[in-house]
Amino acid sequence: MGFNVYVTSVIPEPGIPIVKAACEKVEVYTKDQAHPRKCFLSKIKGRDGVLCLLTDAIDAEAMDTAKGCKVFANMAVGFNNIDVKEATKRGIIITNTPGVLTDATADMAWALIMSTVRRIPESERFLRAGKFHGWRPMMYLGGDLVGRTLGIVGAGRIGTAVALRSMGWGMRILYTDMNQNKEIEQKLGARKVDLPTLLKESDVVTLHTVLDASTRHLIGEKELGIMKKSAYLINTSRGPVIDEAALAKALKEKVIAGAGLDVYEEEPKVQKGLLKLENVVLAPHIASATIATRSKMATMAANNLVAALRGQRPENIVNPEVLAK
Ligand code: DGY
Repeated sequence: MGFNVYVTSVIPEPGIPIVKAACEKVEVYTKDQAHPRKCFLSKIKGRDGVLCLLTDAIDAEAMDTAKGCKVFANMAVGFNNIDVKEATKRGIIITNTPGVLTDATADMAWALIMSTVRRIPESERFLRAGKFHGWRPMMYLGGDLVGRTLGIVGAGRIGTAVALRSMGWGMRILYTDMNQNKEIEQKLGARKVDLPTLLKESDVVTLHTVLDASTRHLIGEKELGIMKKSAYLINTSRGPVIDEAALAKALKEKVIAGAGLDVYEEEPKVQKGLLKLENVVLAPHIASATIATRSKMATMAANNLVAALRGQRPENIVNPEVLAK
């Protein structure tokens, strides 16, 4: 008890009640928008812990401002918004919410695959505009998935779940990863290949890597040029993994057939070029947005925060080195 905590957004139940039950002072930012930086900095001053979102930049400036803060509990599996190295240097605990959003995110990757390949949003816009005057043999012809090749870039938890969902389409699976993925190799006959091979042979390429220096702009003009003209690119990982300007150009020039995106390089901004194109499906970063999943993420982030404040080991600590200090 006696803890003073800031929560940077309203979050699903039972996140805030968990925090309130364990802390003396809890302030929640209640506006339904990303937290303006100046306000964010002024609010985190003097707190023992902060429950934050992927839209909050937790950098050296934030850590200086929140001097004495023991933990930043991120309500996301990704933590590229946090300078973990800097936090570790200062002994600050960082936590995330892995596992609970794997299925929702894999489902969203498939929703984008189907929407993009079968041109659903594009044809719906056509219908809503009053342009549907009857069945036509050449109307909105899309691609096929059965027996085609699915390329998984990053075969961790989410990449694996995406691969397993391909069984219904009997797809050939290629993947890239630092580690061998025995599960998808045994269950699906998946093959680990290098990125150029995956890009060259896949009909659908889906991205599931973390964002770090090695994956920033992993897919740019050169990589898009390697892909088949008939192929589709799907991204539910982090926007900067794709060079978005290069993708807009490639889609416009029909270098590839289409793309389905849930994340953007400068979120919430989206390349103007992409907004004008019909062959891209654009979702507003909603891969984990199911009622049950978001509730689990909120619970996990709250429990991680409380454990760290109490001097216990949080279940999902990103930098366990700080506990050894
Ligand atoms: C995450 O958790 O990293 C997702 O991008 C949002 O759920």
